[in-house]
Amino acid sequence: MTTPSSPANEFGALPAELAGFRPHAAMVLGSGLGSFADAAEKLFEIPYSAIAGLPESKVPGHAGKFVGACLAGVPLLLAMGRVHYYEGHTPRQIAAHVRLMASLGPDTLVLTNAAGTLNRDFAPGEWMMLSDHLNLTAASPLSGGPNFHDMSDVYTAPLRDFFRAVARDGGITLHEGVYACVPGPQYETPAEVRMLRTLGADAVGMSTVFEAIQARALGQRVAAFSCLTNWAAGVSSEPLSHGEVMDTGRQAASALAGLLQAALRRGLPAP
Ligand code: HPA
Repeated sequence: MTTPSSPANEFGALPAELAGFRPHAAMVLGSGLGSFADAAEKLFEIPYSAIAGLPESKVPGHAGKFVGACLAGVPLLLAMGRVHYYEGHTPRQIAAHVRLMASLGPDTLVLTNAAGTLNRDFAPGEWMMLSDHLNLTAASPLSGGPNFHDMSDVYTAPLRDFFRAVARDGGITLHEGVYACVPGPQYETPAEVRMLRTLGADAVGMSTVFEAIQARALGQRVAAFSCLTNWAAGVSSEPLSHGEVMDTGRQAASALAGLLQAALRRGLPAP
């Protein structure tokens, strides 16, 4: 296997707290979703800038740090903030924090993002668990070698079964659907949204798939959740704004925090 899918020692010496941490699960918290960390006991915080080789985000709301935390007795490594394709980073750079976290041994990666909803049954403010994705960036974090990884079960079915049951038992609305990843940074046109619906997408966003592909290539299980922050362009007559995306994300964050806490208390299923 060539370097793109191996957790190579590409980051130099890690800060000691991070290097010695053995998380059971890793999580990436996207736009406006950082409040999940408030519910956890924080063990340490390390800014991405303290680690050589990690790109830093310039997007408001993407703090850019690792938080070591403990929730319901489970050690977690949280990546607060990510970088995006539209900032000019390569797919491999975008997935760097996933490689770093994977090198510390967790078998499960939970990804979160903000997305527009194309599905009239999935309202803004609600959550969608990804059943699959459409990578419409025409790019991959695995480029550079014959990394022919199977992607037929990116969002691991047993984990989806588990989270579906946790949501049902907790009375938390959790849709399931297909996430289309577009390069951005501009939002879509109504014609593009009609195209995405024709392609089978339920939600559209600008992140997550490179991280999911990277994690699967490293043998991790992946679960991913979209906070549906707005109707996609043309679905409603309202113009889209980053402010709306952030506000809805913050308001909806507690529902996902509740779901993840309940999931950790129940105990993630064994791989
Ligand atoms: N489109 C693309 N990305 C997004 C959207 C959207 O409508 N909402 C949040 N991220």
